[in-house]
Amino acid sequence: MPEMMTSEATPGLQMPDGRLEACAERLFADLRGRCGFRRDDLLMRKLNSAVARFSPDEAVDWVDRMVARSDHDPEWLALVEGVTVHETFFFRDPAQLDMLSLRGLPELIDERNRSGDRRLAIWSAGCASGEEAYTLAILVLRAFLHAGCDPRAWAVDILGTDISTQMIMKARDGVYGGPGLDSFRQMPAENMVYFMDVDGEQTYRKSVRSELTALVRFHQHNLMGDRPPGDAFDVVLCRNVMMYFEDEGQVHTQDLLTRSLAQGGLLLLGVTDRIADAARYERCQADNAVIYRKLD
Ligand SMILES: C[S@@+](CC[C@H](N)C(=O)[O-])C[C@H]1O[C@@H](n2cnc3c(N)ncnc32)[C@H](O)[C@@H]1O
Repeated sequence: MPEMMTSEATPGLQMPDGRLEACAERLFADLRGRCGFRRDDLLMRKLNSAVARFSPDEAVDWVDRMVARSDHDPEWLALVEGVTVHETFFFRDPAQLDMLSLRGLPELIDERNRSGDRRLAIWSAGCASGEEAYTLAILVLRAFLHAGCDPRAWAVDILGTDISTQMIMKARDGVYGGPGLDSFRQMPAENMVYFMDVDGEQTYRKSVRSELTALVRFHQHNLMGDRPPGDAFDVVLCRNVMMYFEDEGQVHTQDLLTRSLAQGGLLLLGVTDRIADAARYERCQADNAVIYRKLD
């Protein structure tokens, strides 16, 4: 059991001598350096609550230990887990996905069909519990259907990564729905054929069918600390992730995303993200949606 975030902290505890605030600041500096996070009220509240569970002396010791831990240490990852936002759902930001399925994927499939190199490599960076990666698998299968391609003749590799090991485990499980926020809330109903009931229809829990799981894999990856997981992806998505990063972290991450793309590869950012290295991309727009194509 991780020593962090196991109990509910009481917000607003007094911090008698400023040492607890200093501890929260040290944790923030550590997370900013290693994960790119920018300061915001929610993050600082979570960090203040985390240290407020301790006396000032204990908090200093705990933070000393925490900042000394490696990026892959479960205790440090549990800290990151506790302060990050994992909200996601199938078919999020549909205008951009429409653009990908109506233009990006058909062009890519057509080009690969002509060259005979029937491979597609796609990366969902910051995938949280995996809905984005499985959405991409659905879009690819639908694009194959439309183009009259047999999926078995293709090598499709959709990689989902996230800094959170718990999210990666959930993504690998591939079970969604049930109580709470509904992952399916924006999914067009016809795509339900790619899911099956887990424990009868009553619970509305659905598991991803093997047609999708065969195309998708997941692993833990820190966009700020790790190397890119490849250098020839055809499509890379990093959406609703960099909005939590300060400018330096965004530039670093976008450089990593650029290095991971093949020439002519497509980059899909979040609606609030600005492209850092515009000269290296062609900007493609349809209605409100934007996709960037890597030039060199
Ligand atoms: C709000 S979710 C977005 C999920 C999905 N991309 C979407 O648009 O629905 C943001 C995810 O980014 C992950 N994340 C935050 N910092 C990260 C980092 N430095 N490296 C990798 N993933 C990170 C979080 O763990 C979280 O699961």
